Amino acid sequence: MTTHDSRRDLEALLASRVALIVIETRDEERARRLLLDLAATARPPQPVFEWLVTDGLRRADVDLGGPQRFNAEPGQVLSSIRDGGLPGIYVLIDFHPYLAEPVNVRLLKDIAQRYDQSPRTVVLISHEVELPPELAHLAARFEMAFPGRQERRAIVDEVAREWARLNGARVRADEASIGLLVENLAGLSVTDTRRLARTAIHDDGAVTAQDAPAVMEAKYALLNRGGVLGFEYETAAMAELAGMSRLKEWLARRRPAFDGTAPGLDPPKGVLLLGVQGCGKSLAAKVAAGVYGVPLLRLDLAAVHDKYVGESERKLRESLATADVMAPCVVWIDEIEKGLATSDNDTGSSQRLLGTFLTWLAEKRSRVFVVATANDISRLPPELVRKGRFDEIFFVDLPAPAVREEVLRIHAARREVVLEPHEVAGLARECDGFSGAEIEQAVVSAAYAAHAEGRPVAAAHVLTEIRGTRPLSVVMSERIASLRAWAAQRTVAAD
Ligand SMILES: Nc1ncnc2c1ncn2[C@@H]1O[C@H](COP(=O)(O)OP(=O)(O)OP(=O)(O)O)[C@@H](O)[C@H]1O
Ligand SMILES: [Mg+2]
Repeated sequence: MTTHDSRRDLEALLASRVALIVIETRDEERARRLLLDLAATARPPQPVFEWLVTDGLRRADVDLGGPQRFNAEPGQVLSSIRDGGLPGIYVLIDFHPYLAEPVNVRLLKDIAQRYDQSPRTVVLISHEVELPPELAHLAARFEMAFPGRQERRAIVDEVAREWARLNGARVRADEASIGLLVENLAGLSVTDTRRLARTAIHDDGAVTAQDAPAVMEAKYALLNRGGVLGFEYETAAMAELAGMSRLKEWLARRRPAFDGTAPGLDPPKGVLLLGVQGCGKSLAAKVAAGVYGVPLLRLDLAAVHDKYVGESERKLRESLATADVMAPCVVWIDEIEKGLATSDNDTGSSQRLLGTFLTWLAEKRSRVFVVATANDISRLPPELVRKGRFDEIFFVDLPAPAVREEVLRIHAARREVVLEPHEVAGLARECDGFSGAEIEQAVVSAAYAAHAEGRPVAAAHVLTEIRGTRPLSVVMSERIASLRAWAAQRTVAAD
């Protein structure tokens, strides 16, 4: 994402006497406005002409009364600029299809080469412009930055005034909610910024913290056209996750750095959660987003993989760029070892994906917090676990007795199962070696069993289910032992 000051940069470019400027943008209106504004404040002020294939050429900086439809023909407009146009700025909107014509190339060259006698700047604005090589060296490309904070604030204020005018009442808002809205609108074109500001304000004539989720969701829908990054509607609160006290404390301690209230601290980059299946790694990713109060985006690396060389990398880069624009947010990469494993006999494509991801992670300045999870160390690329890649690698082990109690309490409460404290303690002892998911499953099955009997769920139902379960940790005891041995050297216990 570009963060430079568009106005100043374009001003400098116009002053540098380049004859041909290319602006690739979907934000046509913003580019036009910027040009008109700069032309008006230039010394001396510059006339601005604008061309559209539908309307032809017209004077854009002053209203000369009524449309003057002439020179609609692309070749015609260029010759009239060359042969008699006033010095000034000529904005050609969506001229790109006609750049393939040799006549037009010649005419643009002429205009550029005669700039010294008669300074006429041609500005091409389109969503995409491919310049023929003969013109490339005569042209400067200008990259539009997204609207900055001040500009976004101005748009929000404008939308608020518009609502007030229509409804004869003031918009209800406090400074903090407006600040949040302005922040959440970052990374969008002016048109989209205005559209989302309207969505937030026009429904209820208020700007409140409640607008944030809808704005982020709409923004995500605008950005994620490729579809590799998923918006997770469900985040989780601290209280829904049993155990992992170290991880929770780690997250809480970095909250001020993440939400920007502690400017001296570097925002955290991300964590890798490694561990036993069903012990709450995925849940912890949802908790991270819940704790930080930001959207959760799930990056599906399996969907990134594409059979065409280069496509996978492009998709990954685009997704990461989208995440940057969605900041502040949490990006959750589930089972990262499956997407980035390099042992596959692919043609180095996974290696390049890994490289792209690691570079982004290392250079990232945005407030994007990554939570990656993994449970298969044999497929984990060593580069990923090297010191300094993630802020920390946490090991998520099978729950200890006290944590099993907590898991039982959380899942019993969720299903309105009433258990006495001594029953919880007894059940927790019984499910030694169970993962959180298996404990949850025991509670769920107990509820079914009780329902079949037509009775309320009791501790005895849960106990029966626990006794009838052979936990995965028994089946996979060797794998868990080697996982623990590996983790002991390289990770911090999450709990
Ligand atoms: N520590 C926990 N606290 C509360 N619930 C838990 C915990 N661990 C597991 N669960 C329950 O089990 C479900 C499955 O856990 P989760 O998907 O987070 O595990 P995982 O570690 O990501 O497993 P996998 O390696 O298979 O992806 C959770 O949605 C939650 O309901
Ligand atoms: Mg998981």
